Amino acid sequence: MARVRLQNVSKAFDTVQAVDNVSFEVKEGEFFSLLGPSGCGKTTTLRMLAGFETPSAGSIFFNDTNVTTAKPQHRNVGMVFQNYALFAHLSVGENVAFGLRARNVEKHEIASRVSRALAQVDLSGLENRAVSALSGGQQQRVALARALVVEPQILLLDEPLSNLDAKLRVETRERIRSIQKKLGITTFYVTHDQEEALTQSDRMAVFFNGKCEQIGTPREIFNQPVSREVMAFLGRANFFQANVVEPGLVRLPGDRQIKINNNEIKAGTQITLGIRPHHVELYAREPNFVGEVSKVTYTGAFEELVLRADELQIEAVVSFQNAGEKIQIGDTIPVKLPPEKLTIF
Ligand SMILES: Nc1ncnc2c1ncn2[C@@H]1O[C@H](COP(=O)(O)OP(=O)(O)O)[C@@H](O)[C@H]1O
Ligand SMILES: [Mg+2]
Repeated sequence: MARVRLQNVSKAFDTVQAVDNVSFEVKEGEFFSLLGPSGCGKTTTLRMLAGFETPSAGSIFFNDTNVTTAKPQHRNVGMVFQNYALFAHLSVGENVAFGLRARNVEKHEIASRVSRALAQVDLSGLENRAVSALSGGQQQRVALARALVVEPQILLLDEPLSNLDAKLRVETRERIRSIQKKLGITTFYVTHDQEEALTQSDRMAVFFNGKCEQIGTPREIFNQPVSREVMAFLGRANFFQANVVEPGLVRLPGDRQIKINNNEIKAGTQITLGIRPHHVELYAREPNFVGEVSKVTYTGAFEELVLRADELQIEAVVSFQNAGEKIQIGDTIPVKLPPEKLTIF
């Protein structure tokens, strides 16, 4: 298994700066996600790790070996492509065997390794099945078996769940995680889905416009986002412009004053405050203001509210466990923005 280090890696295609001066290090055996919106450079980063693209600048190391320009077959990586890229005219077994044939592994060994790889993904005995006769979920597992059969030191997964339905996505991501843990294989997992990244990763990197904005554990990134963009991408959030009245006290639109947990910021400074809907305290005993319900959305497990107080608009959630009466548009609810839950930008 390998440690992986990207050092000032960039990739330009003509005029597009797909990846822009990215540096990070991934530990041996780590499950590391690359999270960001479409077009932010995730796939390009993965393809540079695989050797399908060469960086325009910077270096990539596997352990202490510089692999920046090494060919894919000399890197010992396994990759699962977003659309699986299975060979439709080959059987399941032939698809899985592909990388072993390319490495001139002996025939009897190929057969035993293919059957072991298929067992790892719960597809034992399907060697002779046509790929086209498999469900989407099974095809995804064939692609995973094909990546694992070469016993790679690094596993690269590009949005591996994007073609599956919601229930299968959860099942499949848990399968991937458990195989990854068992094999202890260093894994890069590309996704635009914050829930996938948050639930599975040891650590993750958030990308925007080819740049790596933040690296950390899911908890660090969710709870201590470095920017408004990261906070907004990781889940729902309210943002307010605020003016510091005196250290520890700010004024929100509508001339409402609230406390913040920071005494370092000088009076007169303009700041942005962020708070997640589930951190907004409703029916607060010491409210900052009273909000009027302008929208109620039933989601099954809880209700999402939009509250208004003059020009302030705020999203909050109510779980049914805590809700008393049914909440209706026009209801007024005392609201508090707890200082310890506010993120300051
Ligand atoms: N082969 C290519 N030629 C030209 N532009 C490319 C190529 N591959 C990717 N790009 C561009 O680079 C940017 C990043 O793409 P990509 O890495 O695929 O993003 P993501 O996987 O995060 O959606 C996009 O603007 C994309 O259009
Ligand atoms: Mg992509």
